[in-house]
Amino acid sequence: MRVTGLRLVNFRNYPSLSLRPDAGLCVLTGENAAGKTNVLESLFLCSLGRSHRTVRDGEMVRAGEAFASVAVDVDTRGGPRRIECKLFPGDRKKTMIDGAPITRSGELLGCLNVVMFAPEDLALVKDGPGERRRFLDMAISQLRPSYYYTLQQYNNALKQRNALLKDAEGLDYDALACWDEQLSVLGSAIILARAELSERLGMIAAEQHETLSDGAESLVAEYEPNVQPEAANELTKTLRLALADSAERDIYRGSTSVGPHRDDLKLLINRTDVRVYGSQGQQRTTVLSLKLAQLEILRAEKDDSPVLLLDDVFSELDRNRQKMLLIAAQDCQTFLTCTHLEEVAAAGVEQMQVYQVADRRVIEV
Ligand SMILES: Nc1ncnc2c1ncn2[C@@H]1O[C@H](COP(=O)(O)OP(=O)(O)OP(=O)(O)O)[C@@H](O)[C@H]1O
Ligand SMILES: [Mg+2]
Repeated sequence: MRVTGLRLVNFRNYPSLSLRPDAGLCVLTGENAAGKTNVLESLFLCSLGRSHRTVRDGEMVRAGEAFASVAVDVDTRGGPRRIECKLFPGDRKKTMIDGAPITRSGELLGCLNVVMFAPEDLALVKDGPGERRRFLDMAISQLRPSYYYTLQQYNNALKQRNALLKDAEGLDYDALACWDEQLSVLGSAIILARAELSERLGMIAAEQHETLSDGAESLVAEYEPNVQPEAANELTKTLRLALADSAERDIYRGSTSVGPHRDDLKLLINRTDVRVYGSQGQQRTTVLSLKLAQLEILRAEKDDSPVLLLDDVFSELDRNRQKMLLIAAQDCQTFLTCTHLEEVAAAGVEQMQVYQVADRRVIEV
């Protein structure tokens, strides 16, 4: 798929902006704080319904303005599509696909698939398990939007169970059993989907990592579930029993201690935990391998290449890694930001569309 048009109004630092990007590589270059990442963020927003760097949608509205809008035209195998997102400070955003408002945020998933590489990605390795769960969840949701709904329902049931646990005095055991039942059905679907994706992801990421490190490092990315996956029927039962077993402790703590909301993705390089002991370079390479694996799975499953968003990542990579990234990007439309255009040219890129970002404008050069 490819983005054929992008129009921003009052988005971040742009009063108004209109782009008609080419199919191949689009480079956005300019000084720090010029507004390069903002452009990628607007595409990410139309892909996943949220920013990659804030949970507060209002931040994306240009300071002092009452609304912002982003409109993206996409060419997909299934034909052209227009995605529009309107943002309001202090109010819910509105999203439309081909002019029709969507009622559930999951409807957006799959319309425009993007894979982003950004400096913030390092959190995927360095931060807590929540980041890695989010990565798995977003990757699965792009492949299968129904997963996103299951996840929403699970989180909702979890919230309800936790609220119930906090009221230990008059605890309603029937209601607790009811939430346990829901959590075990929804939770087992999540565990199985995560186990399946982690296995594929782990295999491809290991290959990528071996190439990126010239054979020196072997990466193991492995699902670290809180409750072990097994056959679907059994798993639901196991989860239900685990929830019942932990009820007493959960009442004491006021929260639910078992289930996929406690999962992690184990990351080892040469048998050492990258999350704790990895060097900056190893952590960066691990993220790159995982993202390249995500890209490959998305491409294979959807039979349509996603759009790549490469934010500021080029300058931090050595030549070998830059080349790998460019090879992976070959048949994808790619938006790349950089402060120094020479770096991209030096990596051997011949054909590219270059935009200069300055003074709240983006001009093709
Ligand atoms: N809501 C907003 N209203 C107005 N301006 C904003 C808003 N949010 C961010 N900005 C401005 O956008 C600019 C930052 O944009 P962006 O992060 O895209 O820069 P960049 O070109 O990617 O810079 P760098 O090279 O440092 O990553 C800053 O000047 C910031 O003040
Ligand atoms: Mg930036």
